[in-house]
Amino acid sequence: MATVKPAQNWQTDWDHADPAYNQQAHQIWDELRQTCPVAHTDRYGGAWLPVRHEDISAIARDTDHFSSEGAVLANKPPREEWISTAPIGGAPPITSDPPFHADARRLLLPAFSPQVVAEWEPEIRRLCNELIDNLEGLDVVDAAVQYAQNIPVYVIARMLGLPLEDSDYFRDTVHLVLEEIGAEFGDRRAGFEKLDAYLAKHVQDHIENPKDDLIGFLLNAKIYDQPLSPTHVVGTIILLMVAGIDTTWSSIGSSIWHLAHHPSDLARMVAEPELLPTAIEELLRAYAPVTMARIVSQDAEIGGCPVKQGDSVLLPFPAANRDPDVFENADTVIIDREVNRHVAFGLGIHRCLGSNLARLELRIAVEVFINRFPKFELADPGAVTWSLGQVRGPRKLPVRIVQRS
Ligand code: HEM
Repeated sequence: MATVKPAQNWQTDWDHADPAYNQQAHQIWDELRQTCPVAHTDRYGGAWLPVRHEDISAIARDTDHFSSEGAVLANKPPREEWISTAPIGGAPPITSDPPFHADARRLLLPAFSPQVVAEWEPEIRRLCNELIDNLEGLDVVDAAVQYAQNIPVYVIARMLGLPLEDSDYFRDTVHLVLEEIGAEFGDRRAGFEKLDAYLAKHVQDHIENPKDDLIGFLLNAKIYDQPLSPTHVVGTIILLMVAGIDTTWSSIGSSIWHLAHHPSDLARMVAEPELLPTAIEELLRAYAPVTMARIVSQDAEIGGCPVKQGDSVLLPFPAANRDPDVFENADTVIIDREVNRHVAFGLGIHRCLGSNLARLELRIAVEVFINRFPKFELADPGAVTWSLGQVRGPRKLPVRIVQRS
């Protein structure tokens, strides 16, 4: 793994690939909100980090000045070498701008409707119980490695129609796309080429042997009365893999991390299962995993601060969710919080298309874990590690099981 030069100062030299960033994200955002609410770094060709809800929502809604073609802020090759730029981008619809975005998004909606997603509930429940069965006899388990990381990989591999035996490779892919952001692009190129070859093989297999899965769905889909281009199909598969895996893995892990050191919240959720949906929304608010990026397409302002065409911007939705101007006791987890208009799934035209699936996986994963382990605690708080980059969640999470049901 490439190591980046540590950030010297979070106001003027921040770096989301510095391990300290995700470890201390909540404190960093709180401090910035009070001292420098639109922080800057010269890294990545120059990028901004707004942390106020007001600025983050204004940017997410302003597609005239902020383009989604750079959804991940990383060291990139020169723009002339990009396979696809705005308005389509490399992974539609998340990298697409209007007017193409609406059409690329619309064609995916039926595949993620509440009815279609609900059919996965028994399978997800079975999987979660099986993962817990495999932990039989262990006093200390790694809730990130042995539990959280396996759930979304299984679900999205099954949905796409990719082999479950390749689960480790899918996690490597997520790591390549989202965590190796500080490396020189030349060092990551071979990884992207391998991914293209892997997906080309599976797309070809689906063409030769049509299947009733998401890859089959994309191959049959039409845009402007034409089949999707091969780069559109592969770009969307990569999006669904990446968006489907790391995000939900992180949310499940952060929720278990919270419950492992807030015994009263855990006890209450076990005793009052009807609280679960409200508690899940609060955990999503407080530990929202996903930050997105934009590129400034025309000179603009963020909260009065001028930004130039070509600059990048991070959109930390998790920081918006902890803004005290919008949420009372923003830094406290209140599992029965009544009013909770959080933006964990983003806002504006790119609002998460997989939110029904994400909520289903998160609810079942937490429900099964706390039903089977009504009491657990952090085994070694210092051993918990966090991901790098724009999706934040625990990657090692040793918990001691105090009670099994
Ligand atoms: C807890 C889990 C998840 C969180 C917090 C989350 C969060 C987000 C956020 C913040 C965006 C907005 C992007 C932007 O503004 O640029 C987004 C977009 C998207 N998400 Fe999720 N996501 C999650 C799970 C999933 C899952 C499971 C899938 C599907 C497999 C998915 C598919 C997508 C897609 C396709 C988009 C792009 C929508 C568009 O551009 O119109 N997400 N997600």
